[in-house]
Amino acid sequence: MTKVLIATEKPFAPAAVNGIREVVEGAGYELALLESYTDKADLLAAVADVDAMIIRSDKATREVVEAAKNLKVIVRAGAGYDNIDLEACTEKGIVAMNTPGQNSNAVAELVLGMMVFLARNGYNGKAGVELRGKKIGIHAYGNVGRYVGEIAKGFGMEVLAFDPFVAKEAIEADGVKVVESVEELYSTCNYISLHIPANDKTKKSINYDLLNKMPEGGILVNTARKEVIDEEGLMKLMEDRKDFAYISDIAPDCKDEIAAKFDGRFFFTPKKMGAQTAEANINAGIAGANQIVNCIEKGDTTFKVN
Ligand code: 3PG
Repeated sequence: MTKVLIATEKPFAPAAVNGIREVVEGAGYELALLESYTDKADLLAAVADVDAMIIRSDKATREVVEAAKNLKVIVRAGAGYDNIDLEACTEKGIVAMNTPGQNSNAVAELVLGMMVFLARNGYNGKAGVELRGKKIGIHAYGNVGRYVGEIAKGFGMEVLAFDPFVAKEAIEADGVKVVESVEELYSTCNYISLHIPANDKTKKSINYDLLNKMPEGGILVNTARKEVIDEEGLMKLMEDRKDFAYISDIAPDCKDEIAAKFDGRFFFTPKKMGAQTAEANINAGIAGANQIVNCIEKGDTTFKVN
C-alpha cells in the first residue's frame, strides 16, 4: 500500500492532520505521522518505507532523501524549499514540490502584528508610535508581500515595493509604488518587510551598507529566512545606529548577543510561527496531500521545484 508520511518537527494543527488523513486515506493510501521529533534518527527511521512525505521546515537533507528508499514525492507544505536537498531528490528521481500561497496570509498578519508590538514598546505601557502615515517597503512582492501590502494599507501606511521578478504594472495595479532599486527601497522606507527566498544569490545579501541606508528609526522585519541576513553587519549596524530596530520570526544565530546588547530594539518570536495558524496549516497541509495524490495517480507535477 502507498504510504504517506507527515514529518513535522513543528506539528500542524490537529484539523490539518485530519484533513490530510481524509485525502490520503480517501485515495486508498496509508498515513503515518511523525510529530515533534527531536532526534534526526527518528526521521531517518520514519522515512525508510514511505512513498511520499509532507514536511514543513524539516530538513530533507541528502541523508534523509537517501534513507527514503521508496520516496517518489516530497511536498514542503509552505513556500520556501531551502530545507530540501533538491539535487539529491533529482538524482533519485524524486519530485519535490511546495505549496505556494497557502500560508501567506498567516505570515503577512504576523508581520503587521510584530510591527505593532514593537511600535508599542512590547506593550510596556509607555507611549509608542503609530503605523499610519509611515512607509513600508516590501522587499520581494510574492504571495506574502502582496498580503503585507494589502494589510499595511488598511493601517494607513504608504506601501512601496521592489521585485525585479514581478511586472511593475502588476504591482502598481495593487496600489503599490514600485521603486527602481533595492537601495531606493531601503533609503525611502521606515519599515522594510523581507520576503526574499534564501538561495545562493540572496544569502547574507541584507548587509550593513544596505541597512544603513534606512532613514532614522528604520525597522527591519524579517519573516523570510535568517540566512539572508549578514548577521555580522546587522550587529555592527545596531552598535552604530541606536535608532535601528530588528524584528524577526526567525531568531538569528547571534540572538543572545543581540538580546544582551540591544534591549528594546529587537524582537524575536520564540519559534518560527509565521505560518502557524490553523487556517495556514489546513490550506498548506491539504494542498500538499492533494498534490501527492495527483502526482502519484496522474503524474501531475504542478508546483515541482526541482
Ligand atoms: C514557508 O516557507 O512557507 C514558511 O517559512 C513556513 O514555515 P513553517 O512551515 O516551518 O512554519
